[in-house]
Parts: sequence; C-alpha cells; structure tokens
Amino acid sequence: MTELLRPHAEQSFAEELAALERVDDRPKPPRWRLSPWAVTTYVLGGEADGVTITPKYVGRRRLVELAVATLATDRALLLLGVPGTAKTWLSEHLAAAVSGDSTLIVQGTAGTPEEALRYGWNYARLLAEGPTKDALVPGPVYRAMQDGKLARVEELTRIPSDVQDALITILSEKALPIPELDDEVQAVQGFNVIATANDRDRGINELSSAMRRRFNTVVLPLPDSADEEVEIVRLRLDSVGQALELPPATSALEEIRRVVTIFRELRSGVTEDGRTKLKSPSGTLSTAEAISVVTNGLALATHFGDGELSAEDVAGGLTGAVVQDPVADKVVWQEYLEAVVRERDGWGALYRACRAL
Ligand SMILES: Nc1ncnc2c1ncn2[C@@H]1O[C@H](COP(=O)(O)OP(=O)(O)O)[C@@H](O)[C@H]1O
Ligand SMILES: [Mg+2]
Repeated sequence: MTELLRPHAEQSFAEELAALERVDDRPKPPRWRLSPWAVTTYVLGGEADGVTITPKYVGRRRLVELAVATLATDRALLLLGVPGTAKTWLSEHLAAAVSGDSTLIVQGTAGTPEEALRYGWNYARLLAEGPTKDALVPGPVYRAMQDGKLARVEELTRIPSDVQDALITILSEKALPIPELDDEVQAVQGFNVIATANDRDRGINELSSAMRRRFNTVVLPLPDSADEEVEIVRLRLDSVGQALELPPATSALEEIRRVVTIFRELRSGVTEDGRTKLKSPSGTLSTAEAISVVTNGLALATHFGDGELSAEDVAGGLTGAVVQDPVADKVVWQEYLEAVVRERDGWGALYRACRAL
C-alpha cells in the first residue's frame, strides 16, 4: 500500500478509522461504519483509543455536523463552494468514514452520459445473449444502491440537465429502473449521494428545482482567517511532504504565511490592514493553489537548494499562480509587488526573487 501514488482515504487513514470504530458506542445509522459523532471526529480530528485522529477538514464544526446529519436522512448532500474549498476532499473523507469506501464516484462533465449515473452494457455479451443481468455493467451509483453505501457525484452542475434527471428517480424513489430487463434495483439502507458543485460555474442555475429539493446544500466557505488558512496549508504540506519524502515543513512557516497573505489580499482586493486597495487577478488563488505553490517550493528547496524553503523557491510558483492571463494579471502583479511587497518589513528577499524572474 505504501507504494501507491495516492491511496484512497480509507486506506491512508485505516488505522484512525479502526481506532474510532473500537471506541464508538453511539448509535449508527444502518450500514454506517461509524456513528455520526465518530464521523465528525474523523473529519475534524481528535483522539480515539490512544490514536491521534488528524484533522482533515479545517473549518466550522457546525458545517461538518450539518453535512453528516444530512447523510443520515433521506435527503442527499450537496457541497457547494468556490474552487479549492475542499468540496472534493471532504466528500472523499465522508464516504470513507461512513461507508469505508470512497471509490463509488461519477465525475461530472458536459459529456457525462446517462450510463455513468445508471448502468452500461458489456457489448460482447449483449450481442451474444441479449440484455441479461450478466451483460449489465452497474455504474457507481447502482453499486452504492445495492451495497447501501455513499455514491459521490463530482461537479454535478456540469452534467447536462437531461442527464442529471436520471438522479431524480434515484433520489426520490430510491430505485433505479432497468426497463431492458423489466426490473429495477432498490436501494438498501445506507445508500445516499454526496454531490459537489462549483458556484463559480454558471452551472448552479441549471440545477432544476426538482433536483434541488432532493438535496440539502452545505456551502463550504473560504477560510475565515489567515491563521486558519496557514494551518490548512501546513497540515497538507506535512502529509504531501511525507508522501514525497520531503523534510517536515515547520521551517517553512514564514514562507507559507507570506504566500497565504498574498493570496488573501489579492482575492479580497485590499491589504490586510485595510489601507491599500488592490486589483484582483483573474485566477481563483484558492487554498489549494497556495498548497501547490508551497509544495513545489519545498521540492525545489529539497532537490536544488539547502532543504530550507526560501523566497526563491516560492517565487516561481507564486508568480505562475497569480499571472494566469499574461497581460492583465501581469500588470496587477507588478503593481502589487511595487506597492505592497517592496514596502513590507522582512519581505525584501521575496520582492527581489519575484523581480528577478
Ligand atoms: N478548509 C480546509 N480544510 C482542509 N483542507 C482544505 C481546506 N480548504 C482547502 N483544503 C485543501 O485544498 C485542497 C483542494 O481541495 P478540493 O477538495 O480539490 O477543492 P474543491 O473540490 O472544492 O475545488 C485539498 O487538498 C484540501 O486539502
Ligand atoms: Mg472538486
């Protein structure tokens, strides 16, 4: 397992999940591996049976409780937010903790066919035998219904509305008709759906009211404070760093704080002290992007530097993240460098490194 490039959450955190399972004596909804309380602890962190439960999601407890409680009802869960707010991340961990399986996933795109939400056919068998149960290839949602697990639908609002409609029957009747076999699958207890959607996509408007009524929506916000965002980056960096066998990121805290501050200021269009108005670049500059800027920097520091994350190591990634549009964003970035970065105490090295690019 340690050789996998990216183990599933239920593999990476098998020990934590097992420890929670041992101490969990609260009531569990049918077929849930853990109680809602233990699922929440798994997501937010804590301690169980002498094992440290690492925080996966950093944010308000109430949001996670709302999400977990929804999954125990007959309504499905929609995680909504701008890119990089951990919608996919949270949905994977919820599925891992509730069902012990985060792999039943449908990736939503403009080209997602109805078969992805329902079932397909093994064409060789279909031709040889006609439509039979053995020729049918169940999709992830079908399998989740059969096994009483959570199915995940990523980027729901990118799926064309007529294809989305296939979910309505599933969510309201808890059954999936198979007209070719004059049959149906009925969902067993434990089945539910977690969907994610990006509220920057024009998409959300396309979620029909019929669909919307079947979901409870939980909006995942951008991190409340710079401290919280620094903590998120640091947590992720530690685990990404471990997987890539990079050194621990504690020495990198100052650079992380600078990257996070820059992203937050450019996102909000004003400096932290509220004094200087700024233009915002076109990119999203999410926490996820801050994580990747710092991770790349750490790889540079490890392989080409002295192992300590320095301003030179983050300058390239930082510039790349901010300057997505080579013309307009470049102007925004240059103004920010001159008006803000240059003037800050202790930011001289970063200013020079960015200018040198
Ligand atoms: N509040 C948060 N708590 C923990 N991790 C976060 C948080 N916000 C963002 N992240 C990190 O950002 C990364 C990207 O999140 P992702 O789930 O892909 O975003 P989305 O699906 O919302 O676009 C994840 O690796 C996650 O670790
Ligand atoms: Mg996502």
